Amino acid sequence: MKYTDQVFALPRKEEPLILGIESSCDETAAAVVRGRALLSNVVLSSAAEQAKYGGVVPEIASRAHTEAIGEAVGRAVKEAGVLASDLDAVAVTYGAGLVGALLVGLSFAKAYAFALGVPLIGVNHIRGHMAAAYLADPSLEPPFITLLASGGHTAILYTRTAEEFEILGSTRDDAAGEAFDKAARVLGLPYPGGPNVEKLAREGKNCIAFPKMFSGAGYDFSYSGLKTAVVNYCHNKEQKGEPFSRADVAASFQSAACDVLAERAVRAAKEKRCRTIAAGGGVIANGYLREKLIEVCAKEGIRLVLPEKKYCTDNAAMIAAEGLVQYRAGNFSDLSLNASAHIPLGKKGKQ
Ligand code: KG4
Ligand code: ZN
Repeated sequence: MKYTDQVFALPRKEEPLILGIESSCDETAAAVVRGRALLSNVVLSSAAEQAKYGGVVPEIASRAHTEAIGEAVGRAVKEAGVLASDLDAVAVTYGAGLVGALLVGLSFAKAYAFALGVPLIGVNHIRGHMAAAYLADPSLEPPFITLLASGGHTAILYTRTAEEFEILGSTRDDAAGEAFDKAARVLGLPYPGGPNVEKLAREGKNCIAFPKMFSGAGYDFSYSGLKTAVVNYCHNKEQKGEPFSRADVAASFQSAACDVLAERAVRAAKEKRCRTIAAGGGVIANGYLREKLIEVCAKEGIRLVLPEKKYCTDNAAMIAAEGLVQYRAGNFSDLSLNASAHIPLGKKGKQ
């Protein structure tokens, strides 16, 4: 045994036990982690109710959260096999999202943390999507490239440390998820758009040449051109009374929207000499994109950390995972923390 082993091999203190709470949109979610080990994950969704209206109605979301939050947290603690009094911190999404919806989770989290006498940690929802990778592979350590593709953000980042990242490129207009949702509407598909486009695309072929995103040397994206091309294609065909395959439109749109994400993430990894890409955000639940990422990473010998689909869409496990990052950094919030509809990801460059 080496000298250093004798001196420093002290018994490790147990990893912190963190409750995560998420209520930014239509999912009321709670989860418990011990360090990077996920102990429970509860998601109660009002998506079926929202589908009747073709999208998320904020008032319905807030009411649904109010009804579900107690059950979600109670179940998450119970299913984790711990006592609420064992928790070391409560992490909660404070933005971005629907303010009324956020306030339900945030108020509950404040009261819970105060009653237990443990710290409150305010989590930026999008940082939660990025942190989901730490649960998917608990051995993951920066630096790595993060591919973020969600309803509100699309970016390629260089994650330098758990807290610091550099935005290498991002969308100049719409996010990838927004483009999927818009394509769904044009194709007459119900809410939620993204998964329904994916389903329809399985029956079609990638045979329509929609414009690819910026083909320059940088990492920025633009989805508005692709979105407009899909809208124009469908409207032209309809106006001329020409039959066309909606499934082919879905498949062609999907590959134009996804191929560029995979290609640029790999290019960033090569240029930054990173051997790891971690992905996160709702669009990463897309089966076509997942296969593409697996294929291009395998070809280049890059390790891909791909959270399971249920940890790409909204959940509280990712909020607890980011809560752990903030807990370790000593970043705690006080009870004056307020909900915020918009939190920028940051400017391009170092954060
Ligand atoms: O990451 P997310 O929760 O959004 C933000 O936090 O901003 O993801 C929601 C987005 C929606 O636009 C939804 O249509 C898209 O992710 N999405 C998908 C799929 N599942 C969810 N897009 C394509 N294919 C999917 N399977
Ligand atoms: Zn989200």
